[in-house]
Amino acid sequence: MTPKEPAPATRSTIVRRLSRSLDERAATRLHSVEDARRAARRRLPAVVYDYVEGAADDEVTMARNASACAGVTFRPRMAGGPFEPRLDTTVLGTRVALPVLLAPCGLVRLLHPDGPAGVARAAVGRGTVSVLSTVAGSPVEDVAAAAGVPMWFQLYAAGGLAEADALCGRALDAGVEVLVITVDTPALGNRTRDVRNGVAPPLRIDTRNAVPLGFQVLRRPLWAAQLAATGLRLSTRGAGPAGHGSGMLQAVASPFSWGDVAHLRARWPGSLVVKGILGGHDARRAIEVGADAVVVSNHGGRQLDGGPATLDVLPEVVDAAGRDAEVLVDGGIRRGSHVVAALALGARAVMVGRPYLYGLAAAGEDGVTRVLELLEWEMRRAMLLLGCRSVQDLGPSWLARAGDGIPQR
Ligand SMILES: Cc1cc2nc3c(=O)[nH]c(=O)nc-3n(C[C@H](O)[C@H](O)[C@H](O)COP(=O)(O)O)c2cc1C
Repeated sequence: MTPKEPAPATRSTIVRRLSRSLDERAATRLHSVEDARRAARRRLPAVVYDYVEGAADDEVTMARNASACAGVTFRPRMAGGPFEPRLDTTVLGTRVALPVLLAPCGLVRLLHPDGPAGVARAAVGRGTVSVLSTVAGSPVEDVAAAAGVPMWFQLYAAGGLAEADALCGRALDAGVEVLVITVDTPALGNRTRDVRNGVAPPLRIDTRNAVPLGFQVLRRPLWAAQLAATGLRLSTRGAGPAGHGSGMLQAVASPFSWGDVAHLRARWPGSLVVKGILGGHDARRAIEVGADAVVVSNHGGRQLDGGPATLDVLPEVVDAAGRDAEVLVDGGIRRGSHVVAALALGARAVMVGRPYLYGLAAAGEDGVTRVLELLEWEMRRAMLLLGCRSVQDLGPSWLARAGDGIPQR
């Protein structure tokens, strides 16, 4: 008797179990965000890796983010005796175990079948918050149910205010309490790598790119098998034209006005965050229309190339916000010490984008958890070596300043 072929369901269960144990092992091999980046590069087809890693035009702004983080000079204080640094804080009233939130990112579902739900679960598991992008690839209802709250929702609405209202209504019904409006995307940035790979929207798979894309996928059998076992569903419900990923990317261009933000503020009962602020003037505008927090962000360098590094404009935004709003920052943060520096410059908390995407691509939900653990360990160690007992004690005096004779930011 010849053994029966396993039924398709059984086969996919086997793939899922196998991939789970591979992910668990892969996560333990990550010892830094850079390790996660390299592992993601090995697991993903080049076209998907480039989508994550790439930025706009010549990627100048992305490089500025990285050099601003690397360019911080600390002023440590020695012989403080033994202590256990406190990393917990509150962000918009929610207590978080560490001041690192997961930034909203589109097409997350493309990286690993654990997708946005896995990201949200990892954040909850480490005592922090994730922000679901409108175009993450899974409906807000499903992710909120899988992860439980707290989860924040980031809004794009290429279809205008009617679409924005509908999306906000769904997020609210799903239990989301914090709405994040991204204001730096009136048009999609020119992502050179995507253009070169033939996948910039509008995406067209034709004879010119089908063969190279097919080869890239064949060279990444684990990624292909994992996605095949669960099926690649990129939900665009309510987030633009239904269909493939390209439709979703076209759905992001959201030319919000301050009037639109005020309109949404009047309807949203929870906290409101405006993401994509790069100066004190815009921070004040956001606060005037009712923002409870702003995120100093240049979208990881994926929008306007040539703009400033976020850490360089953070102090100006912190000054402008005063006590009227909390200030978060993202862009280029790859080490716990970068988080410490951002907090010393006045941020309440940071967000990370690519670091957790690398973790997800490298090892699924376990990889996201691992990246959060690494940042937490690194932060704890940096605080110990700095001699600072609590994130509440961080401020500019922990950094080199003009006149110190030490290079500073
Ligand atoms: C692949 C990718 C997709 C992104 N998608 C979104 C999005 O849908 N909405 C949004 O507000 N920001 C989006 N961002 C920007 C992130 O929220 C965040 O601002 C940025 O990644 C921070 O920089 P970092 O990657 O250096 O940490 C995306 C970033 C990446 C890398």
